[in-house]
Amino acid sequence: MSRKFDLKTIADLSVLVGTGISLYYLVSKLLNDVEAGPLSGRSKESKNRQVSQWQKLVSKKPELTKVNLNSYEKTVLSSVITSDELDISFEDIGGLDSMIADLLESVVYPLMMPEVYQGNPLLQAPSGVLLHGPPGCGKTMLAKALANESGANFISIRMSQIMDKWYGESNKIVDAMFSLANKLQPCMIFIDEIDSFLRERAATDHEVTAMLKAEFMTLWDGLLSNGRVMIVGATNRIGDIDGAFLRRLPKRFYIPTPNKEQRLRILKVLLKGTKVDEENFDIDTIAAGTNGLSGSDLKELCREAALSAAREYIRLKREFMVSYNSKELPDDVPIQMRPLRTSDFARYLKLDPQQPIQAMALD
Ligand SMILES: Nc1ncnc2c1ncn2[C@@H]1O[C@H](COP(=O)(O)OP(=O)(O)OP(=O)(O)O)[C@@H](O)[C@H]1O
Ligand SMILES: [Mg+2]
Repeated sequence: MSRKFDLKTIADLSVLVGTGISLYYLVSKLLNDVEAGPLSGRSKESKNRQVSQWQKLVSKKPELTKVNLNSYEKTVLSSVITSDELDISFEDIGGLDSMIADLLESVVYPLMMPEVYQGNPLLQAPSGVLLHGPPGCGKTMLAKALANESGANFISIRMSQIMDKWYGESNKIVDAMFSLANKLQPCMIFIDEIDSFLRERAATDHEVTAMLKAEFMTLWDGLLSNGRVMIVGATNRIGDIDGAFLRRLPKRFYIPTPNKEQRLRILKVLLKGTKVDEENFDIDTIAAGTNGLSGSDLKELCREAALSAAREYIRLKREFMVSYNSKELPDDVPIQMRPLRTSDFARYLKLDPQQPIQAMALD
């Protein structure tokens, strides 16, 4: 009888222990999920993106399988752009050739050939590069091309995003940004709108902002000075940036509004795949008539020009359809999209009064 009782107790006890253990694992898993910090509230898409980015990085560099990431680093992972997602190369950028040559020396070669820069202290790679200038002239584009051409990983962060989205946790995110970059090196950290964050420190700064700036500087100074992690910042307002931060961005490149020669190059790049009417198209006239326009204005201009040819085609096609009284056109109807002419652009051009009228080549 007592033996039977013993067996029952043992059975009860083991059930109890089993339940205890499973309860412990359940609670600790739940706690872990809560502790997952910014990840816990993230959407499914961003988690999927983190996973897919990590898989891409690992397939490029298998050693990464041994690397562990904390939850904040995983959050930053969604801002990583792998080289297969970067479709911009130097060839897509018009009119900035001399700057590209300089940038190759200060950004691309240190990332690609660290041995050249490690041996000699005189050749130490800059810890940061700043691209500044008016909007729409190619700063973001240039940074992407740099990452693409150097084959480096690219973490692209908008400072306003860190400040809004992760306020309060921004310290940890900034910390993670640097530690992830170290793990993924060669890596470029691109900080767009850098002025929104690194502006002149003021007594009125919120405590979190002040701490964040201090943290950022410490991390920046602690970057392994082998040049395999590079900070590239972009801004429209260099005057707003704190002197202490500027000192850490010794290499600065001013990207101005393009001059005529540069506009010509940009137009050539933008119109590369577009058919033009050789007899009625004069790219020089367009370049001359677009004084003061930025690269992105020129892109818009080309888009509008292409649209005016497209509109004509649509109108013609509709007229044909009405006359044939059908929704489908027979194959032998001779309508085609016509190539672009200078006149397609002329509506939007500020024509240069210096330019003789007959050189306008308008049809
Ligand atoms: N030099 C250029 N060559 C070819 N395209 C250009 C050039 N500059 C600008 N563009 C066109 O304008 C678009 C906007 O450029 P980008 O985003 O690089 O400007 P930005 O200088 O970063 O502007 P912002 O200061 O507003 O961020 C590009 O996607 C590109 O199509
Ligand atoms: Mg930009």
